[in-house]
Amino acid sequence: MFADRVLSGMRPTGGLHLGHYHGVLKNWVEMQQEFQCLFFVADWHALTTHYDTPQIIEQSVWDMVVDWLAAGVDPARATLFIQSRVPEHAELHLLLSMITPLGWLERVPTYKDQQEKLSEKDLSTYGFLGYPLLQSADILIYRATQVPVGEDQVPHIEFTREIARRFNHIYGREPGFEEKAEAAVKKLGSKKAKLYSELRTRYLERGDDEALQSAKSLLDEQQSLSMGNRERLFGYLEGGGKMILSEPQAMLTAASKMPGLDGQKMSKSYNNTIGLREDEASVTRKIRTMPTDPARVRRTDAGNPDKCPVWQLHQVYSNADTKEWVQKGCRSAGIGCIECKQPVIQAVLDEQKPMRERAQQYLDDPTLVRNIISDGCEKARKLAAETMRDVREAMGLSYS
Ligand code: TRP
Ligand code: SF4
Repeated sequence: MFADRVLSGMRPTGGLHLGHYHGVLKNWVEMQQEFQCLFFVADWHALTTHYDTPQIIEQSVWDMVVDWLAAGVDPARATLFIQSRVPEHAELHLLLSMITPLGWLERVPTYKDQQEKLSEKDLSTYGFLGYPLLQSADILIYRATQVPVGEDQVPHIEFTREIARRFNHIYGREPGFEEKAEAAVKKLGSKKAKLYSELRTRYLERGDDEALQSAKSLLDEQQSLSMGNRERLFGYLEGGGKMILSEPQAMLTAASKMPGLDGQKMSKSYNNTIGLREDEASVTRKIRTMPTDPARVRRTDAGNPDKCPVWQLHQVYSNADTKEWVQKGCRSAGIGCIECKQPVIQAVLDEQKPMRERAQQYLDDPTLVRNIISDGCEKARKLAAETMRDVREAMGLSYS
């Protein structure tokens, strides 16, 4: 339960491209080998900005899941689901909203940034302001320990940690907490109970972080503790109340420098993308017609790769020999641009080939994708329900 759990979400706002692959999906595929992973389609998040074009979201949801599967996300390893099919996210969002100071939301940097960036849309909505809190609910409901995100999302994770702390502080105090915690200590058995108490004292009296870490690992290893006692012991360690919601860590993914067809960062808004599963003819045509160093007007004019977007793609896709061939050939007019582009075309097609192949079975039989998502939603709901039980109880809502 307290082992690492990774959670990440993606907004369904159009088909994915190779920038998503290099920036996010490759990373997900690696993480699923190592951690318990939950990946979800953030359809409610998409509505916070695209509330007036729901058709796009609906179509993108399924395309995006196929893209994930094509990229190698493995439903046997990772749990894939759709946010709106786990309505517990909305319940937690609502409950957390009761304790969320407005100022905290207004200070989240993406709030003003996005409003300015998307100035053609009216984003002075309640949903848009609350969107970081919805993200907090997404994370906290699974007690995720690691959240892989890009740099721009780090403030959202920090915000989430503050919300978790505030929640635990307000609701983590149960009547008789000390006595219950002491009783839970005894359940560890005399040796471990003694060790736990020593480590706790060392941390509380001397701020010894190593002692805190050792005590946490000691608790991590206790399989037979009940959930309630486990939470009490984690909370008791740090002198607070019961730890109901746990604080996640941001797992910063190295910013992808995937260049687009024009040398700017690959992005739908620059109209310079290559789709993840775009067909071969179209990929070939796009790269063939890419701009090159404008100084190479004629085949006999020498060029400079530093002024050419094709060179940037060579840096992603080519080995040392090919790169040297480009450098020499371009600067001496020894090779032509079409010739130079050929290895890039080939490398992109080679990268996409297994993706297109993996996608085919899902395109042939869409029920496969529906089933993967149904299974994933069911698993996610079970996990979410556990947290919600504790949250409702802590907030005095577990009527029976
Ligand atoms: N806000 C993220 C984005 O715009 C998507 C997202 C929603 C998310 N909920 C999340 C990412 C939870 C990580 C964890 O990219
Ligand atoms: Fe660009 Fe290659 Fe042409 Fe040089 S030879 S300008 S690097 S495409």
